[in-house]
Amino acid sequence: MRLTVLGGGGFRVPLVFRALLEDSGDESGRCTELVLYDTEPRRLEAIGAVLAQHAADAAASGARPPAVRTTTDLDDALRDTDFVFSAIRAGGLEGRSLDERAALTEGLLGQETVGAGGVLYGLRSVPAAMHIAERVAAVAPNAWVINFTNPAGMVTEAMQRLLGDRVIGICDSPVGMARRAARALGVDPERTELDYVGLNHLGWLRRILVDGEDRLPALLADSAALESFEEGKLFGAEWLQALGSLPNEYLHYYYFNREAIAALSNAPATRGEFLREQQAAFYAAAAADPGEAAAVWERTRKEREATYMAESRESTGGWQRDSCDLDGGGYDRVALALMRAIARNEHATLILNVPNRGTIPGLDADAVIEVPCRVDANGAHPIPTRPAAADQLGLMLTLKDVERTTIAAADTGSRGKALRAVALHPLVDSVNAANRILAARGI
Ligand code: G6P
Ligand code: MN
Repeated sequence: MRLTVLGGGGFRVPLVFRALLEDSGDESGRCTELVLYDTEPRRLEAIGAVLAQHAADAAASGARPPAVRTTTDLDDALRDTDFVFSAIRAGGLEGRSLDERAALTEGLLGQETVGAGGVLYGLRSVPAAMHIAERVAAVAPNAWVINFTNPAGMVTEAMQRLLGDRVIGICDSPVGMARRAARALGVDPERTELDYVGLNHLGWLRRILVDGEDRLPALLADSAALESFEEGKLFGAEWLQALGSLPNEYLHYYYFNREAIAALSNAPATRGEFLREQQAAFYAAAAADPGEAAAVWERTRKEREATYMAESRESTGGWQRDSCDLDGGGYDRVALALMRAIARNEHATLILNVPNRGTIPGLDADAVIEVPCRVDANGAHPIPTRPAAADQLGLMLTLKDVERTTIAAADTGSRGKALRAVALHPLVDSVNAANRILAARGI
């Protein structure tokens, strides 16, 4: 089976490779060929060097690493492939940095996927994703596309128009939270059944069922257990008890918006600026000494994980991330579990980005939502669930309109639509500010 990674020179690709190496299944449904596509040969060389080291280590201990091929030709990468992981960053980390700064300059949240930054990023991601969707439809119409490209919900919805249910969006945040909550309860995460509802980076864990019993009320009643893990520390036990659910970490930017902005404004660099320097240093070091690429990658990865959402942690008491949250193993494992469930018809339940089709009343059928799905050889099917609460549905409706307006702006190049998308985002408090943010980004 062949897997193509678009954005194949990206920093997180070795995590996907590591997850592939752990698959000891038989040939059918196991990835035996990995094709890495990227627009920058330099990035492919660096990541290729890391993978070569990982493959050698794995082969030495009896694993069967997939054959790896790199290419800068998109059609060549896609032709005859079975699965496509799309993980691209249009505009690079430079674009991310400029988006974040443009919003912060206006005293607004400067973040990759939330607020004005998410709209600006969407305006670049959507056209790039549509080009990919067109090429997949033309040269690999039977392939399954697993979309990591952010903003993942918006991009998946845009690609759905061409690829239908053959594109499925993924994110590691919901499963990461569920794992942490299960650990705080002292239960094996594998034994839990999750009731999670939302859009990408905008969702709530409403029930954690263990043998049919909802254990979330017990967790909510125990402030110490609650504040022992990331979401409890970010939101505080009092607010989680008042909400009656566990919000996705990205909701910190909504519920504690002014604190988040203050922390981001005081930081010496935005996340994009920090990563731009960090990643440039990694790719330069890997080019200078390919034999050391894997070691430098591992150091760089640990630093990236350890500094994730640093400003939010700083503004809520300055705590460190838990060591189990630093291992990676988030999005790469979700992606591989999804691919395996489809390829081998192994039934799995995963939280994925799929069209609503009546799952959440109040959102229309085509709206891509993030909910638990049953996966089999026919793809991902959302599990019927209870309606969302009014505050949740209200936010989802507003954000869905922002996402769709961003897609329409990207499709048409309409500045009016772009203005509408930024200004109607609930975290943007002035049309004048929205106008200046767009102008600062040349729109
Ligand atoms: C989480 C989110 C991803 C996002 C990433 C950003 O994993 O779910 O959607 O891309 O964080 O991490 P970064 O290291 O780029 O700030
Ligand atoms: Mn995500």
